[in-house]
Amino acid sequence: MQTTDQSAAPPLLAVQDLKVYFPRGGAGWSRRPHDVVKAVDGVSFEIARGSTLAVVGESGSGKTTSALAVMRLAPITAGTVRLGDTDLGALEGEELRLARRRLQIVFQDPFSSLNPRMRAGDAVRAPLELMAVGTKAERDTRVAELFTQVGLRPEQQHLFPHQFSGGQRQRINIARALATKPELVVCDEPVSALDVAIRAQILNLLAKLQRELGLTYLFISHDMAVVEHLCDEIAVMYLGQIVERAPRRIFFANPLHPYSVALMSAVPTVRGGRARAAQRIRLSGDPPSPINPPAGCRFAGRCPVAEPACSAEPIPLRELTPGHWVRCRRIDVVDGVAQPVLRLQDA
Ligand SMILES: Nc1ncnc2c1ncn2[C@@H]1O[C@H](COP(=O)(O)OP(=O)(O)O)[C@@H](O)[C@H]1O
Ligand SMILES: [Mg+2]
Repeated sequence: MQTTDQSAAPPLLAVQDLKVYFPRGGAGWSRRPHDVVKAVDGVSFEIARGSTLAVVGESGSGKTTSALAVMRLAPITAGTVRLGDTDLGALEGEELRLARRRLQIVFQDPFSSLNPRMRAGDAVRAPLELMAVGTKAERDTRVAELFTQVGLRPEQQHLFPHQFSGGQRQRINIARALATKPELVVCDEPVSALDVAIRAQILNLLAKLQRELGLTYLFISHDMAVVEHLCDEIAVMYLGQIVERAPRRIFFANPLHPYSVALMSAVPTVRGGRARAAQRIRLSGDPPSPINPPAGCRFAGRCPVAEPACSAEPIPLRELTPGHWVRCRRIDVVDGVAQPVLRLQDA
């Protein structure tokens, strides 16, 4: 995706046409040599330094795999991932090891992501030791500082994970992710496993840390309500591809792809969801298999406004109004306003 505004600062993260294909698992004899799972199939996005891109989509749409590929924790089949001036996909060995401190990830599950036999302080210290950052005394100071930064008390570093609540454990994970002073933090469903009452606390903490430290977030969620307030831009993924991408305000005021509208209608508390209540779409059925994805629009089989032409050939992601990209044939721009060709309630 090209940035047309030449005065804009270069993005911190630029992902171009990323593909991650996995050989299909299963019994050897039934496996055809060319069967691959197209987990991520041509994804492009950019994130400006200090901002947040939310990636939203149902389970299985390729969000985690995209994030892992950015982190160089999943194989990059094709495409490029650039962090600042660095082509992450081209790094190997020591160069890759050194680049790793610039990007960190916070996983969904605050329980399984911490070693139960390791004290909280040692978990936070581990990346510093792995990267040989500072002297021992400097690392001790840094660990205490990180505990304070995430809203824990430095004395708590001597406790074990089971002595913390779920929210506190996620704070430990965040402290660990921040230890090496990363520029990019990937948050993969960081509050999905937490009680609703605790979620806002962790989201507020992430927002505070972003302001204080100038962090850039790639924030993954299956829940529109979670990302509504915290992102600058949003990308909606469906079956390995981005189907809609826009600045937050534009997206929530006018979600265009029928799949985005369906995700919104599932959360009536979201502003746009309410506004679009008249066009509520309920998702039925499951997405098609990422092994043989449909040739045309991948959502056509579940889409209330699909017509035969939607399935005929791949649908490009089009920039319909400035910054608002949609992969759907059934949207028109009339007098500068993008809108569905057919109102969904008429379908
Ligand atoms: N290591 C792997 N091997 C084979 N298939 C995988 C692997 N990791 C993920 N997949 C498949 O890739 C698709 C996308 O998965 P994932 O990125 O975890 O989606 P999400 O995070 O959006 O739920 C799914 O169909 C999943 O089964
Ligand atoms: Mg996931």
